[in-house]
Amino acid sequence: MMTATAVAHPNIALVKYWGKADAQLALPATGSVSMGLDVFPTTTTVTLDGAAAADSLVLNGGAAPDGALLRVQQFLDLVRQAAGSSVHAAVVSENTVPTGAGLASSASGFAALATAAAAAYGLDLSERDLSRLARRGSGSATRSIPGGVAVWHAGDDQASFAERVPAPPMAMVVVTISAGEKAIGSREAMRRTIATSPFYPAWVESTTATVDDMLAACAAGDFARIGELTESNALRMHATIEGAFPPIRYLNARSVAVFDAVAGLRADGLTAYATADAGPNVVVLTTPEDRGAVAAALADLGDVIESGTGPGAHLLRSEGTEA
Ligand code: DP6
Repeated sequence: MMTATAVAHPNIALVKYWGKADAQLALPATGSVSMGLDVFPTTTTVTLDGAAAADSLVLNGGAAPDGALLRVQQFLDLVRQAAGSSVHAAVVSENTVPTGAGLASSASGFAALATAAAAAYGLDLSERDLSRLARRGSGSATRSIPGGVAVWHAGDDQASFAERVPAPPMAMVVVTISAGEKAIGSREAMRRTIATSPFYPAWVESTTATVDDMLAACAAGDFARIGELTESNALRMHATIEGAFPPIRYLNARSVAVFDAVAGLRADGLTAYATADAGPNVVVLTTPEDRGAVAAALADLGDVIESGTGPGAHLLRSEGTEA
């Protein structure tokens, strides 16, 4: 019986992915750039079971919701197709990301699943091909394969993968305002944005340019430029989403208060720039030197957790012989 365990961490986009060019292949409408975290790991074990009639999923020690099981089964179908196997698998996953709170738990989840499943099914994939595989589970998972500061390229199936890019040392402070489930998931919200937001074409055009600007700023080690592009791109994404019909609004009054507080910290001489994904929580990009001061200053506004730049997805164990 083949079994493999892998760990992966979430990532937070500095330049966001919001919208697919091809839903079937999970190709993004634009490139994106992220920092991988070193907190909130997901650890996933995939065990092949020749006697099982279907794939199973245990999430945080309990039965997984139907939607999560279906996404895992569809993902494993892709792995089986690549491996020429028809054997089902038992998946056990421990996820420490607050699920559904807009911190993209699907990124660490599918990066860990891709890494463990590829090993269990005997696929020997390069980092590039592993990130292409993780992409099919969830777009943001593509960037959790390399970890660090990474770009996910737009392009066709072969060309749309993530890789690390040179960047200055970075840290983040996650300000959790609500760990509750969000009203509308990012997958559905992306579809509605594309279908109804009049701002969407401008989002695609401006974000395509911002990816190039961000990569240049990272290569130059220009932290102020990295930060202003990060905050601007996040607000542009939320504006585009708010332009959907019926409208979708992820940021609440407490989120906006954190954005204002972060601007105040900058006025006080700290390096701090705010971003937010598909939920009310705010993540603050800062330097390793300033992260403690930024976390202390924001502690009244939510639960704060500091993070450095994290590792890529990796195998912890892989063992066994074909059942
Ligand atoms: C706002 O990767 O969760 O976090 O590809 O449909 O699974 P699917 O979407 P997902 O979307 C993440 C959107 C985001 C921005 C980002 O991480 O770039």
